[in-house]
Amino acid sequence: MSINRSRLDRIIAEKCQINRKKVRLMLAQKRIRVDGVIANNVAQAVDKFSVILVDEEAIQQHHPLYIMLHKPIGVVCATKDDKHTTVIDLLETLLTAEERASLHIVGRLDLNTSGLVLLTNDSRWSEQLTSPENKVPKHYLVTLERLLTNEYITAFAEGMFFAFEGITTKPATLNIVSQYQAHVVLTEGRYHQIKRMFGRFRNPVVALHRIAVGDYRLPEDLKVGESRIIVV
Ligand code: URA
Repeated sequence: MSINRSRLDRIIAEKCQINRKKVRLMLAQKRIRVDGVIANNVAQAVDKFSVILVDEEAIQQHHPLYIMLHKPIGVVCATKDDKHTTVIDLLETLLTAEERASLHIVGRLDLNTSGLVLLTNDSRWSEQLTSPENKVPKHYLVTLERLLTNEYITAFAEGMFFAFEGITTKPATLNIVSQYQAHVVLTEGRYHQIKRMFGRFRNPVVALHRIAVGDYRLPEDLKVGESRIIVV
């Protein structure tokens, strides 16, 4: 997803259903404001969060939204689903339908994974968090069916070859928390990555919970199914 910047005259022509000549005239008459400032350049770059007023009336006024959700097991990371409750459905009391419709998910979790899910309508922010070059750490607490050994630490750090994608996973950190629990930090998000990595040891994942994404940590007081607006 890339941040969409457009020319001011194009946006106004579209929203007000007028031609660009008329827009030029309105600019000359100082009837247009962008983010509080009288606009005078037809080619001024604006994005979806620029507040645009024509004759002091807003024709565009979107606010960036940043949401943290404690995803329960059994809720799907999708915007629409016929069978399951979606992460968007869980935001019904927090946001309006229009606000919910503007959101996208910043890094999905599997249906049976719980924990931190971030959502936003600001693609610049989600790109920063998901772009592979930024290597943003994703922290997981993993519960396994069988005992952990120190071999896992080396294997996760060295990376594993996934024949299906033809890639080797990036170095990952694994700390043994207890006999059956590990704290894993990934800097990428391959399909079912954690389950597949433990699968190499024939050790099924019993529970998977995301604790943090970069600097955003699941707050202890955010209960399962709850969400909140965050300031970034
Ligand atoms: N790895 C998985 O296998 N599942 C997730 O939901 C996240 C990481």
